[in-house]
Amino acid sequence: MKDQMKDIVALCKRRGFIFAASDIYGGINGFWDYGPLGVELKNNLRDRWWHDMVIAPPIGPDGTPISIVGVDSSIIQNPNCWEASGHVGGFNDPMVDCRESKKRYRADHVFVLIPKDGEGVSFAFDKDAEDELIEKRLKKLAKGKSIDDFEREMLDQIPAANFNNIVGPDTKNKGTLTEPRQFNMMFHTYVGATASDDNKAYLRPETCAGIFLNFKNVVDSSRVKVPFGIAQIGKAFRNEVTPRNFIFRSREFEQMELEWFCEEEDVPKWFDFWVEQRTNFWLSLGVDKSALHFLDVPKDDLAHYSSRTIDVEYKFPFAAPGFDELEGIAHRGNYDLTQHQKHSGAKIEYYDQQENKRYLPHVIEPSTGLTRGVLALICEAYTVDENRPSGVYLNFHPSMAPKKAAILPLSAKPEHVEPAQKLYMELRNEFVVDLDIKQNIGKRYARQDEIGTPYCFTVDSETAEDNCVTVRDRNTMAQERIPLDKVKAFLREKINGG
Ligand code: GAP
Repeated sequence: MKDQMKDIVALCKRRGFIFAASDIYGGINGFWDYGPLGVELKNNLRDRWWHDMVIAPPIGPDGTPISIVGVDSSIIQNPNCWEASGHVGGFNDPMVDCRESKKRYRADHVFVLIPKDGEGVSFAFDKDAEDELIEKRLKKLAKGKSIDDFEREMLDQIPAANFNNIVGPDTKNKGTLTEPRQFNMMFHTYVGATASDDNKAYLRPETCAGIFLNFKNVVDSSRVKVPFGIAQIGKAFRNEVTPRNFIFRSREFEQMELEWFCEEEDVPKWFDFWVEQRTNFWLSLGVDKSALHFLDVPKDDLAHYSSRTIDVEYKFPFAAPGFDELEGIAHRGNYDLTQHQKHSGAKIEYYDQQENKRYLPHVIEPSTGLTRGVLALICEAYTVDENRPSGVYLNFHPSMAPKKAAILPLSAKPEHVEPAQKLYMELRNEFVVDLDIKQNIGKRYARQDEIGTPYCFTVDSETAEDNCVTVRDRNTMAQERIPLDKVKAFLREKINGG
């Protein structure tokens, strides 16, 4: 399973889903670019989330549609906003540096093997390193013994206080690691011509801040009434100590966040509602139920603003046999609105006309990584099948597939190409379709399988006589003939369910 991640990364590059940012310069750690197919897949997921949240929000527990509006706020806000939200003081990861290798590690991801008898040096390992590297080092340290025997002689511990006696994960000498230090993960910049502390500003580490800052503007300018939601999709930036696992943990990424404002007494009802809605969302995109896991985040691991969070975890191959976070559903209380009211001095309380009371509503926040969602969809779709030339196909739900169909003339003869071009012109305004003329048909099918195109329409010599094309199903490879004038309806039915 873990090896599958390498194959997935290779396919993403080969077929134009995802590239390392600045690839020709050797890349830049934690940054990724989306290629022609990746951007289509990402837009499909983004548009579907926006549709299900803002255009046609779910039906609430009382049987009527709930109310959600959207915003698109600035990435850079007044820096006081991040003081108020707790990010300047508290958005830290502990890290240790190695003076010799110049590498940096998440302190909470370093584990240390200490000899059981307390004699001799201890050895540090970086949990974020490739499994093979860890194995290789263990083997070296075991000096001919089996790794198991070696590990039995050592005591597995989290970072010990005395760093002077530890050999760092990438060195041969002891005492090269620094003590753990807190490292703020917000990227900063300077606004205007002078680079002074007075002009320091931050790139947002989560998109939701722009929602809280606009809470009063939205209430005053639209007809929303509690309970209601504000949704936003956009970029977020975190200077992660160890970006990892392809696009899973990157330094620039996209989030899709909903802040659902409700009365405190209704929190349990809405919390359950959102866990159910968000689960159904992933299932409707073709994610198998067995690939999801729900983690009630232990109190000690909760973010500073949350009193309860359920993480929706996905079975990413690198986490095998476990799961890792795809989305978090948090009860944020009225922490953020309270903090922003206090720090800004502005009165942002909600006024309930009927009850004649003013208050700061509580918030349930389903927060999803858009780019992490893209990775989950690719992992879920990746299907090994040795019986087909490509050896693998992407089993995307048709609504998520970057290309909905390919139109393939059997040969480059005008009698095949012309009807294919006509069909392409008829479809392209409604569907993202490919017209692929050259190469033998088997190779063209293989390419479409590898990029996850659910249907291929082949124009052959009979098309001129029976006005039909052969449609090939990506998953079953079964072929059937359908009339040319039914192709549009066929695609509508398969992609949107009618
Ligand atoms: N506003 C709440 C919040 O930001 P979070 O758990 O830190 O909560 C929410 O992030 C989601 O954003 C995560 O579940 C994940 O999908 C995505 N995310 C967070 N950090 C990420 C990173 N470094 N790279 C990619 N996605 C990330």
